[in-house]
Amino acid sequence: MANVGDGIRAAPGAWSFGGGVAESFDSHVARSVPFYGQTHELIERLSDEFLAPESRAYDLGCSTGLLTQRLAARHAGLAVEVVGVDREAQMVERARRRCAEFPSITIVEADLATLEFRPADLVVAHYTLQFIAPHSRPEVVERVASALNPGGALLLFEKVQNSDATLDRLLTAQYHNWKRTQGYNDSEIAAKASSLAGVLEPFTSDMNENMLSAAGFDRVVRVFRWLNWEGLLAIVA
Ligand SMILES: C[S@@+](CC[C@H](N)C(=O)[O-])C[C@H]1O[C@@H](n2cnc3c(N)ncnc32)[C@H](O)[C@@H]1O
Repeated sequence: MANVGDGIRAAPGAWSFGGGVAESFDSHVARSVPFYGQTHELIERLSDEFLAPESRAYDLGCSTGLLTQRLAARHAGLAVEVVGVDREAQMVERARRRCAEFPSITIVEADLATLEFRPADLVVAHYTLQFIAPHSRPEVVERVASALNPGGALLLFEKVQNSDATLDRLLTAQYHNWKRTQGYNDSEIAAKASSLAGVLEPFTSDMNENMLSAAGFDRVVRVFRWLNWEGLLAIVA
């Protein structure tokens, strides 16, 4: 087990969101995911386009519920139901605590691989699907597309890989430079990358777009990109 920063230890190929990670997750994610606060804000703004009174929204892989709470607070006047889903018990416990003052929020402990979605107008997956096994990912996206009401949207944020290995290395090196500016040292950066091997398996941007089209999404547009970090907005007709 090596130190990946923020008091978190992980072995190569064995990254997990369990085992106490929830405790330091908020500071770890904010310093590890580029533009974390800004992409939350972007999602909030885009949610205005899809949520109406009594809409339902899902926040998949809600972790400690930060975005879930922000979405519920933004749409408090519309009586929007926000369902946060995570499979890690400690994340769920923290999310429930954070969101306790919002009766419009339900936090569900479940695996997305088997979750039955209720009809919704918006589904957000902010750096979550990348942790689902590649062979299971398309089926989850199909269930999301089927659950969305006409005109509904999926906001899919994912770390992506470049099919050109040289470019992929270049973008990854720049990402690691950015992590240095966030206070991580070389051994923490290397340990985190090694712990994610085989756990976070990124698709290419094209693979994600094709997966969305195959699942039944009619329109797809890129709403965010920084190095290998991307956000797609996908809409069902
Ligand atoms: C990188 S974090 C997501 C960050 C969060 N969306 C945010 O904006 O703060 C990924 C989360 O997805 C959850 N997760 C991963 N695979 C999952 C699955 N199959 N079912 C449910 N939750 C999952 C993890 O437990 C973790 O909390």
